[in-house]
Amino acid sequence: MLLIDAYFWQAFRININNRGKNYYLIPTIYWTFSVITIVATFYGFNNFQQPTMSVFLTSLRGLVFALFICKFLGILPLLIDDIIRIFKLIFQTVNGLFTDPIEFKGSPISRIEFLKRAAIVLAGLMFSTLSYGVLFGRYNFKKHRLKVRLDKWSKSIAAFKIVQISDLHLGGFGSVKKLEEAVKLINEEDADLILFTGDLVNNFYWETDPYIETLKKIKSKNGIYSVLGNHDYSDYTGINKKSPEGKKQWNDHLNNMIQMHKTIGFNLLLNQHKTITINNKKINIVGVENWGNGNFSKYGDLDLAMDNVDDKHPTILLSHDPSHWEEKVQKHPKKIDIQFAGHTHGMQFGIEIGKFKWSPAKWKYKQWAGLYSKGNHQIYVNRGIGHLGYPGRVGIMPEIAIIEISA
Ligand SMILES: [Fe+2]
Ligand SMILES: [Fe+2]
Repeated sequence: MLLIDAYFWQAFRININNRGKNYYLIPTIYWTFSVITIVATFYGFNNFQQPTMSVFLTSLRGLVFALFICKFLGILPLLIDDIIRIFKLIFQTVNGLFTDPIEFKGSPISRIEFLKRAAIVLAGLMFSTLSYGVLFGRYNFKKHRLKVRLDKWSKSIAAFKIVQISDLHLGGFGSVKKLEEAVKLINEEDADLILFTGDLVNNFYWETDPYIETLKKIKSKNGIYSVLGNHDYSDYTGINKKSPEGKKQWNDHLNNMIQMHKTIGFNLLLNQHKTITINNKKINIVGVENWGNGNFSKYGDLDLAMDNVDDKHPTILLSHDPSHWEEKVQKHPKKIDIQFAGHTHGMQFGIEIGKFKWSPAKWKYKQWAGLYSKGNHQIYVNRGIGHLGYPGRVGIMPEIAIIEISA
């Protein structure tokens, strides 16, 4: 971090050269702030798992994070310029061995000044945007409403309202009051069914503790069903599952997590299904453990979950990671009408204006936010209601999805 600060200073100081007697004031402020940033970052890392951290402290952590990212981006033009200069130097040296050095035309001084100023503008823009996302985006809950038709849906169940939330990441959520606001928005909908698609916590089941009473208030006419996400297994805590002691710790954590879902009134589906009956018509609700492409864990067992499922009834799947859809769900011999997923968070950064949406998340996930269909298969990817890492949201707001299902 200190290196990035020193490098960024090269760009920063060009803007304050020849400013007279206050010259020393600006470097002093710059470097004092840098040291505070570094100390705050270390404090942030050490206290990352405290779910009771105040909104003020988590916002401060977010601003420090934003400052770091903007400095990192700000040094990119300088790095490019330095790399070009190194190559020129090598070329000039090699060339000078055989002939007179070649003079490069143009003014390198003005170009480097331009790049340094560009670095400051780029960094400033990024810092303002990310700070705005911390202060105003983080809890700006947005309801996404849509209508979905399912072939096998009975006409006798008109306008069945599903409310889906995902990715609470309670370890960093930062505010019971804000979760109360979200629960109020959910309960306003008077949902027929509520689905939670994983990542309740960042690492440990006990991150839920301060939020238990709030989560218990969520109301649904036909129950709340949930699954686990990749963050719910304590896989990122450094527990060594290969040792007997580590395996026990990991299993204990999982059992506590299962118990926690019961405590908050969520029906956790672990590679299994439940059938609910509405107006004498059956609906299958299937839930798998986390299954993700690449390095993500593959505890999900769709075959096991679909065992004894009668797919002549509408079948809804809860599976945290949307990459499961193309890899396994569409290929399954039994027909799964719609998958509900989360996980991508829409990278918490992007643009959504009307039907247009863009986020860097699309480079990693083909299905990253909203409804997608292929043949007679559908998936809805929730943008998540919490946040991970960067405690803010720019463009892609925390989501409460309201899906009305009809025939
Ligand atoms: Fe997540
Ligand atoms: Fe996830």
